[in-house]
Amino acid sequence: MAAQKLPLTVAIDGPAASGKGTLARRLAAEFDLPYLDTGLTYRAVAAKMQAEDQALDDEGAAIKAAQSLDLATLDRVFLSDHQIGAAASKVAVMPKLRAELVTLQRGFAVKGAVMDGRDIGTVVCPNAQVKLFVTASAEARAERRFKEVEARGDASSYADILRDIRQRDARDSSRSVSPLEKAADAHLIDTTNMDIETAFLSAKTLVLQAVER
Ligand code: C5P
Repeated sequence: MAAQKLPLTVAIDGPAASGKGTLARRLAAEFDLPYLDTGLTYRAVAAKMQAEDQALDDEGAAIKAAQSLDLATLDRVFLSDHQIGAAASKVAVMPKLRAELVTLQRGFAVKGAVMDGRDIGTVVCPNAQVKLFVTASAEARAERRFKEVEARGDASSYADILRDIRQRDARDSSRSVSPLEKAADAHLIDTTNMDIETAFLSAKTLVLQAVER
């Protein structure tokens, strides 16, 4: 009997504004897979807590907010706000909240998916057939975020965004539970001096190699 192939899962991790989201969306379209930006789940919890004036370290309130999430209705445009991203990285340090969201995220991935976040290759989908760790210098990432913020007509300076990115990197990399780190078997893609097309082509090659194996 031919060996049953597992559903294809592509795990993409990396820091804020590294290009992982764009890459993930393109790979999902290319391989016709569902896509989940797991950062949105942390953002949605933080936004809900802020809307209800709850302290961002209230783990009970965070778990309740997580339990009421519906992955089908996450509002990417609203949640993309820079300040919600900073709040998300504060709620993301709470272990029980992470456990709740990881269960939700794994449920999404059961039939195969492209998932992006900070801990996909290490914790959420450690058996993913393809793992990518997408990074870029803090300056290059701040420049990209600054252009996005400018294009939206929002006010923020490059210096403020660079400072936020550095703070977020430090918080995400130093937390005790599921810190941002490259899985041992992840392929590193550094987009500092690479356009998205080149990054996409190298990621696509890696996925094709895994599918053919
Ligand atoms: O990727 P994004 O910038 O939307 O993520 C917002 C925050 O959510 C991150 O800074 C990080 O603290 C948290 N996060 C996480 N684990 C994930 C995805 C996001 O801790 N898998």
